[in-house]
Amino acid sequence: MRILGIETSCDETAVAVVENGTKVLSNVIASQIDLHKITGGVVPEVAAREHILKIIPVIKEALLAAGLSWDEIDGIAAACGPGLISALLTGTLTASTLALVKEKPLIPVHHILGHIYGNWCDRPDANFNFPILILTVSGGHNDLILMKGHGEFEMLGTTRDDAAGEAFDKVAKLLGLSYPGGPAIQISAKDGDINAFDFPKAKFDEETFDYSFSGLKTAVLYTVQEKFGKNYLPENLDPKFVCNVAASFQKTVTETLIDQLENAADKFNPREIHIAGGVSANLALREKAEKRLSKFNIPIRHPVNISYCTDNAAMIASCGYFMFQKNPSKFKQWQNIQPSADFTF
Ligand code: KG4
Ligand code: ZN
Repeated sequence: MRILGIETSCDETAVAVVENGTKVLSNVIASQIDLHKITGGVVPEVAAREHILKIIPVIKEALLAAGLSWDEIDGIAAACGPGLISALLTGTLTASTLALVKEKPLIPVHHILGHIYGNWCDRPDANFNFPILILTVSGGHNDLILMKGHGEFEMLGTTRDDAAGEAFDKVAKLLGLSYPGGPAIQISAKDGDINAFDFPKAKFDEETFDYSFSGLKTAVLYTVQEKFGKNYLPENLDPKFVCNVAASFQKTVTETLIDQLENAADKFNPREIHIAGGVSANLALREKAEKRLSKFNIPIRHPVNISYCTDNAAMIASCGYFMFQKNPSKFKQWQNIQPSADFTF
């Protein structure tokens, strides 16, 4: 079964065709990074207008790259949320219209569940063992999820304020590094000392698998202001200082992410551990996961390609396929799918 996936929840206009949930036949991503670099972050109205310009050409390119016509597509999956509503509208309306006109099943996909299926992309022999403990970590979300089977998800913890990716982006901005912040901090951290600064990890009074990163972000800001003054200009910061802050910050974020993953693995005895989402591209996080979680003697996976970590439509098509397989009759009737900031699963 071939599903065409559409993803427009933030700043990538993405369309992909995936066969049987794992074989990626095409994966086209029109990134808006250059546009959002100008403002150092995503302006929703600007992102939405760009999606409108790009969506049809990207769909055409995805079909062309897969070498398929509409007759050879068996269904359409679209990310419905959470995300920027004005951006999601383009993807959901386009998917809904195409499903009506081309008479295809239409599958609304939760963006975070989509990220989970980034680990199925390009793994045609994927036959993972459940339960899987999953850390999904991006700019907009930061969750610990126990996956007991396809369509069976238990939310164990989430962020109480910022997601780790959001912290990467904001810290990069206050250090004068480029957007998106994650890759910029990873590069800068290579030349820094991870022990230069002792940044705090959030602590909770009760047992929880939640996260919190806003305090860390503020601690970094105070460290910079203490040395360079409240009204410092990011472009005037000492380059060595920037590298040291980046390295110490990256160490604290990745350790915090793995601490909770380790606590949850101890408690829930998963048969696999997966990390997914934009921040799963981070090499320090991957290394730390390998090192600290190898004691569980279970597979520790991240997406096989960085393009399946950050926002993409292959993961949406893959998730749509497994949703369809579980409940085909649910998606046969055409439906007008709605974008939602609180799309639940
Ligand atoms: O999954 P994604 O594309 O969008 C959301 O769903 O939010 O994730 C984007 C986030 C950004 O915050 C970006 O800075 C972060 O992923 N990111 C990284 C890396 N690559 C992307 N963070 C740390 N290290 C990276 N190499
Ligand atoms: Zn995402």
